[in-house]
Amino acid sequence: MEKSFAPPSIELSSVSKDYGSVHALRNLSFRLEPGERCALLGPNGAGKTTTLKILVGLLTPTSGDVKIGNLDPSSEEVRRMMGYLPDDASPYRSFSVRENMEYIGALRGVDDVSDKVDSLLDSLQLREYERAKVSRLSRGNVQKLAMALAIIHRPSVLLLDEPLNYLDIPTQETVIDHLKSINSTQLVSTHIMEVATRLTDRVVMISHGSVVWTGTLDDLKKLGKDGEPIERVVARMLTDAL
Ligand SMILES: Nc1ncnc2c1ncn2[C@@H]1O[C@H](COP(=O)(O)OP(=O)(O)O)[C@@H](O)[C@H]1O
Ligand SMILES: [Mg+2]
Repeated sequence: MEKSFAPPSIELSSVSKDYGSVHALRNLSFRLEPGERCALLGPNGAGKTTTLKILVGLLTPTSGDVKIGNLDPSSEEVRRMMGYLPDDASPYRSFSVRENMEYIGALRGVDDVSDKVDSLLDSLQLREYERAKVSRLSRGNVQKLAMALAIIHRPSVLLLDEPLNYLDIPTQETVIDHLKSINSTQLVSTHIMEVATRLTDRVVMISHGSVVWTGTLDDLKKLGKDGEPIERVVARMLTDAL
C-alpha cells in the first residue's frame, strides 16, 4: 500500500566529510523547514553533491549529525519518503522509458503504476519515447526520465542534483512547472543562479564545504547595487569567502 508522508524538515549540524586528505565538507550546518524549497548554490567542488549523498544516506559524514524530520537518513521510513535525482543519473539502458518507470514504480510500491506512468509520460512530454530504449535517447530525455524515476512515488522530500542539466529551454519550463506542483521539502543543488531563482525561494550558498551566506532570494537581490546582475553579487560573495 502506498503511503504518503507530510514533508519533513532537513537539518545538518556541523557536518564534515573527508575523502582521505580532501576536506569536502567543513562544519556544514543548515536547516530547511518542512515544505521549503531551497537551493544549495556553490561553484564546482564546493561540496554540493557530497551534501546530497549524505542526506540520501549514500555517504556517512566523518563527523556531525544529519536528520530528516527527526529520523536518520538511512532509516527505512526516510528511504520511502525520499526522492533523489543524482548528478549522473543512469536509468537501465536496455529497458525502454516505460519499462524503467514501471520497474522503479513497482519497486517503490506505487499503487496504479500504469496510470502514474501514463500521467508522468504526458506531463514530462516523454510520451513519444515511451517504447524507446534508454540507450537510444538524447541526454536531455535521459535526464527527464531520471526526473520521472525520482518522483514517481510522490516523495515528500526531494533532493535534486543539478536537475536542469542537459535540458533545453522548453523542457526546463516543463520540469520547473512539474517540480513546483509537488508538495515536498526540496533541496536543489546548482552552480547556476538562474536555476536557484526559478526553483526555490531561499539559498544556502557554500564554498569549500562551508556555508558562505544564507537567506531568501529577495534578500540576495537587495545586496546588489542598482541594476547589478545577481550573478555578480554572488560572484563577489564567493570571492570574498576565499
Ligand atoms: N570520491 C571522492 N574522492 C575524493 N575526493 C572527492 C570525491 N568526491 C568528491 N571529492 C572532492 O570533494 C570536493 C567536493 O566535491 P563535490 O561534493 O562533488 O562538489 P560539487 O558537487 O559542489 O561540485 C571536491 O574537492 C571533490 O574533488
Ligand atoms: Mg556536484
